[in-house]
Amino acid sequence: MRKIALLTSGGDAPGMNAAVRSVVRTAICQGLETVGALKGYQGLVNADFIPLQLRSVSNIINRGGTILKTARCAEFFEKEGRKKANEHLKKNKIDGLIVIGGNGSFCGAHLLALEHNFPVIGVPGTIDNDIAGTDFSIGSDTAVNTALEAIDKIRDTVSSMERIFVVEVMGRKEGYIALRVGLAGGAEDVLIPQTEYDIERMCEDISKGRKRGKVSWIIVVSEGVAGSKDVASLIEELTGFETRSITLGHIQRGGSPTAIDRILASRLGAEAVKALLAGERDKMVGMTGETIKLIDFSSACAQGREKRNKLDKEIYGLIRVLAT
Ligand code: F6P
Repeated sequence: MRKIALLTSGGDAPGMNAAVRSVVRTAICQGLETVGALKGYQGLVNADFIPLQLRSVSNIINRGGTILKTARCAEFFEKEGRKKANEHLKKNKIDGLIVIGGNGSFCGAHLLALEHNFPVIGVPGTIDNDIAGTDFSIGSDTAVNTALEAIDKIRDTVSSMERIFVVEVMGRKEGYIALRVGLAGGAEDVLIPQTEYDIERMCEDISKGRKRGKVSWIIVVSEGVAGSKDVASLIEELTGFETRSITLGHIQRGGSPTAIDRILASRLGAEAVKALLAGERDKMVGMTGETIKLIDFSSACAQGREKRNKLDKEIYGLIRVLAT
């Protein structure tokens, strides 16, 4: 193997740059030529490559976003798009590919590996932390901390004005951010896609709480469940108490990565290069506890849900007990 390409794909996540830096420097130290494909798979389909040298990745370990840009590339999810990508990889004498991204990006990488026998290794990078086979994905710790900072500020006004506040966090199919931030931020309740929720029950609890002397509530809702405005109106209608709402949105994807995400990105990026050099393909590098492992894309592409159901139930239960 003499030359590899690297790309970031799907929603950007804080720490992707730290992973890019780690891949580039590890690869160059191992004698590999390294290029970046711009805007995710779009860069493969359009043959949009840039050379990456040691100094190309200076001073990016602390930066959010991705210097390689990212996109959700519909064309690559068509057979014809992947054929084009493979041709461009071959034409540019690229022997291996590293993809930093989430679930959808890995499904695309898996198809490229299967259809064209191209060596691809994935590095999990998504704030949703919904990839099977790894405890953590790059960006999720930063996103939880960003949402937590916002919730702490909201708590100041919530307690001062004795209100109910509904805070919407990211996660269409995944309640990872909602649950973690709900526990860490002392929320009274959390609505997530993977558990049944009952707003009427929640409103009854609020009314009972008021009678006991409780005066403020923070309810965290995952974007996949409902909009914060709709939840707030329903709560106000059912309880008669003043309720406000906020959607934290894309601020959760930005900002300087936490130490945890930088360390994870640096370790997984380096390991991805080593895996390619060892002849591995069609796999993702993941972390279980403190141990780095290789996981087949076919199992990484399955929803990460299963493995966390038990832990999520425990956290959900704890949030509700601690909120009394
Ligand atoms: O990258 C993951 C994520 O931030 C999800 O939490 C969210 O549902 C989605 O991406 C939003 O995607 P977009 O930025 O394309 O609207």
